[in-house]
Amino acid sequence: MKILKGIVLSFNKNPFFNNIEDSVNIVEDGGILINDGIIEEVNNFSAIKNKYPLAKIYDYGKYLITAGFIDCHMHYPQTGIISSFGKRLIDWLNEYTFPEEKKFIDPEYASKIASLTLDLCLQNGTTTVSSFCTSSPTSVNQFFEEANKREMCVVAGKTCMDRNAPEFLLDTVNSSYDESKKLIEKWHNTNRLVYAISPRFAPTSTPEQLECLGNLWSEHPDCIMQTHLSEQLEEINWVKQLYPKAENYLSVYEKFNLVRENSIFGHCIHLSEKELEILEERNSSVAHCPTSNLFIGSGVFNLRSFNEKKIKVGLATDTGGGTFFSMLRTMSETYKVSQLSKFSIHAAQLLWLATMGSSASLNLENKIGNIEKNYCADLNIINLSSTKEIEQRKNQSNNIWEAIFPTLIMGDDRAIVSTWVNGNEVKV
Ligand code: GUN
Ligand code: ZN
Repeated sequence: MKILKGIVLSFNKNPFFNNIEDSVNIVEDGGILINDGIIEEVNNFSAIKNKYPLAKIYDYGKYLITAGFIDCHMHYPQTGIISSFGKRLIDWLNEYTFPEEKKFIDPEYASKIASLTLDLCLQNGTTTVSSFCTSSPTSVNQFFEEANKREMCVVAGKTCMDRNAPEFLLDTVNSSYDESKKLIEKWHNTNRLVYAISPRFAPTSTPEQLECLGNLWSEHPDCIMQTHLSEQLEEINWVKQLYPKAENYLSVYEKFNLVRENSIFGHCIHLSEKELEILEERNSSVAHCPTSNLFIGSGVFNLRSFNEKKIKVGLATDTGGGTFFSMLRTMSETYKVSQLSKFSIHAAQLLWLATMGSSASLNLENKIGNIEKNYCADLNIINLSSTKEIEQRKNQSNNIWEAIFPTLIMGDDRAIVSTWVNGNEVKV
């Protein structure tokens, strides 16, 4: 048994729809009892210590302890081309992304980048990711193996594409079905792994492939289905040309039974009211990727419009379109992007998006994303004075939120003191 001591922050309710005070529980002298990777009790440290005097104590003093961050949309094969200069989405895919993704037929290269990416995530306090792999099953196998080595909960899947990409990355209707099915049977729900059926996006799939993947999903309905939706205007026009009969972009996916609970759509910047209604009706989720949206010049995500319909929103880096592995930096950009729509996001709400928002978006909200009895012990230990500029601002704070906010806006991996995965401390 282990006891962590620190300032423990957990959620009782969603802070977007309830008072901040009612939504968040902050215990200044908090304790978390962990047994066998699972959180057994959250209380005052002294109460837990008295009850379990033999437990090993990890004293984090005045550090903040939150649930591990969850990045609900990223591309681990793009780690090597992160920060590639100056292209719109489609050019960026053709010039940088596709040639890099070709390399992942090589298991050694795939392992190396999977390992590097997961270590970068952990160094940044991200304990779970939902990642696209490449069209090569090798890229999926190597990623899941590296996640298993680290006892991480990850969501991932083979990226399916049977048109509009270089020949060397294309699969076919049949091979995308067969390979995805084989990977599901091998990996889905083993250890802490979840399989995501992953058509890249409507332009790179024929209607036949989308139909086939819709059928595959109906055979494995508890898998996640992840894809992209309405990221850039050029992309939306392209979808209109490729699917001229579709009423809108989302209806392409809807037609092939790819819109329901357990589906998560990346970006969703330029949605019509009708598309928002469909997402609401179908209980689908959205991955907000602010650093990518700014870097690729995609547009301004409007969080308010999703909240009005109670559509689930999680936070994501979208690396390598996104420019940081850090969810702290992602929270910072989330705040700034939302300011452009005159919607100011409270520190508690930013933390919610990066933890419970993302876990709910991936249908994992009963296992990860909070510090609560029976949740997996995936945790983050955060120094709220990690740099001089943050520290001097925090020293002027009048309450706990003013103490936390500078780290959410100016913090990065230097603020992450350590990360816990499955009940063990990880230092990368
Ligand atoms: N749309 C389709 N594929 C991708 C991708 O790899 N990155 C981003 N940002 N958008 C996409
Ligand atoms: Zn993406």
